[in-house]
Formats: sequence, structure tokens, C-alpha cells
Amino acid sequence: MLGPVILAASRSDRMRRLISAAPVTKQVVDRFIPGETVDEIVPIIQDLTSRGLELTMDVVGEDITTPEQAEAARDAYLQLIDRLKELELGTRAEMSVKLSMFGQALDGGHELALANVRPVVEAAAAIGTTVTLDAEDHTTLDSMFAIHEELRKDFPQTGCVIQAYLFRTEDDARRLAANGSRVRLVKGAYKEPAEVAYQQKHEIDKAYVRVLGILMEGAGYPMIGSHDPRLIAIAQELAHRVGRKLDEYEFQMLYGIRSDEHLRLAAEGHRMRVYTAYGTDWYGYFMRRLAEKPANLRFFLRSMVSK
Ligand code: FDA
Repeated sequence: MLGPVILAASRSDRMRRLISAAPVTKQVVDRFIPGETVDEIVPIIQDLTSRGLELTMDVVGEDITTPEQAEAARDAYLQLIDRLKELELGTRAEMSVKLSMFGQALDGGHELALANVRPVVEAAAAIGTTVTLDAEDHTTLDSMFAIHEELRKDFPQTGCVIQAYLFRTEDDARRLAANGSRVRLVKGAYKEPAEVAYQQKHEIDKAYVRVLGILMEGAGYPMIGSHDPRLIAIAQELAHRVGRKLDEYEFQMLYGIRSDEHLRLAAEGHRMRVYTAYGTDWYGYFMRRLAEKPANLRFFLRSMVSK
């Protein structure tokens, strides 16, 4: 029952101030967010790619409150893309973005987010890679899917994320699978009400398998975003059953979680993409990682007490 409490805290400014200022926080944060600047993250990118892994890069940040912050987010991604150009990684390093960091929740936010994210998608395409739009809470999704559709007119490789815990997702998956999109399927990381989302783990897992079936049988490119060994095995089985080759789908996991499994899947010949977050505004991302596994929270609290 700790998960929902931590997710509520992830949206509290008071908790943000308390946790961000705690002396030991950084050590624990580093496990999931291994750098604050582009200079710090480049060696991590080089290390992971040298081990046969692919990346999707996330400059952490969300729920910004001014248009200037949205422009700063855009510029942070453009700076990253400049560095990726020098590394010549092409699609081995793509970008993940949260539209709330690009101004989606501000006045006129839909247009603002589209205007800010477009240059990032253009710059990514210019170096031979692409962008995936992360899925945030359910109130933001109609706007996210509309922006995805708009971007795909010029950049068909632009991806998006769908969340198995939402009732709407099977319909979204059918639409996206039919139009050939790149789609990352995840369980879902936000606190959602029972009117819109499954609440029980076994229901979410069953929904994940149903949606995975739709994506695997469809015309798009499924990206399986999960660390769950059962779901990974089911994905392999489904891919085999529908005749998808190894380059016709991929696995994705978060940096710092089940790292051995990243390497195992890559060694088996799978495309394995590691979602690698960096930056200073790490609070929301970090709290969602704590909520997913209460043992992380116990470790975090113990390290604070033992200091
Ligand atoms: P589950 O939570 O059942 O975990 C399976 C096993 O993985 C656990 O038993 C544990 O061993 C390990 N594990 C999982 N989380 C852990 C953690 N935090 N710390 C330590 N071990 C952990 N969500 C969203 O709403 N929108 C999005 O855009 C994205 N994007 C995204 C990208 C990628 C590449 C991934 C992998 C995940 C996301 N997510 C996301 C997060 C996702 O919704 C979900 O919260 C996490 O992936 C955890 O769910 P699992 O499928 O891993 O299963």
C-alpha cells in the first residue's frame, strides 16, 4: 500500500523540498539518474552502447509552470542532440520526452508543447534518430496522442507510450497498431482513479498481455517496456508465434533496474534499449521508481537514518 502514498508525495512541493535537500539523497538517486549534465552523461552513453545496448535518453523534468521553463527544456534536448551527433550513434540513441515539460499544462499548452517539441523531433531526425512521447497521467493523453499524430505527418518514426493499466488502452493500441506506429507498452506509473484504470497488479498484467497481443499482430513496431520476467517471456513467445523477426520489435528497461537482464537479452540478439534519465529536476522520476518497489524506499530511508 506504500506505492500510492509515494505517488501522492511525488506531486507534493513540500515533500520535493524535503527530499531534494536530504544529504544522502544523491547517492540513492544516482542509481536511477546517473548524471546531472550532458558532460556527466556522455561517458554513461559510451559505456552502455559499447556493451551492445541501445538508449532512449530522458532529460528529467515535468509539470513546469512557465513558458520559459518549456523553452529551457527544448534547449536541453537540443544540447543533448548536438552531443549525440558527435557520437554518431544514429537510432542507437533516441530521445524520450514528457510533454508536461514542454508546456502542455500551461495556458494554450497543447499548441505550446507542440511548438516546443517539434524542433527536438526535427533535430533528432537530422542526426538519424527519433523521439518517443512518454505517457503521463490520463488527463494529458488526448493531447499527447494528437501531438503524436501531428508529428508523424512529417516524422513517421515518432513513437508514443501506452499504459496497460488504463481501460482506454486496448482501443488506443488498435488504432496505433493499424497505422504502423512505434509504440512502447508499459504498465503505467501514475496514481490513477478506479474510474479509468485497473488497480490490481494481476488485472494490469492481464491487460498488458492483451495489449501486447494487439501490438504484436499489428502493423507497427512494438517496444516492450517492462522488467517483468513473465511478460518478457510472453512477448518473446508472441513475437515468435506471429513471425516477427528480432529487428521487428524491441525490449526497453530503465537504467539501474535489472541491468543483468539488459545484457542477457542483448546477448540473445534482441534489441535492448535502456531508458537513461539525467538532469537536475529528478524528483518526480525518482519518486515513481520508489513507488514501484517499496524495498527502494526502505533502502532510501535506512541510508538517511544511518548517516
Ligand atoms: P513490475 O513493477 O511488476 O516489476 C517487475 C520486476 O522488475 C520487479 O519485481 C522488480 O524486480 C523490478 N522492478 C520494477 N520496478 C523497479 C524499481 N523501480 N526498482 C527496482 N526494481 C524494479 N510509465 C508511464 O506511466 N509512462 C511512461 O512513459 C513510462 N515509460 C517507461 C519506459 C520504460 C523503458 C520502462 C521500462 C518503463 C516506463 N514506465 C513508464 C514505467 C512503467 O509504467 C512501470 O511503472 C515500470 O516499468 C515498472 O513496471 P514493470 O513492468 O517493470 O513491472
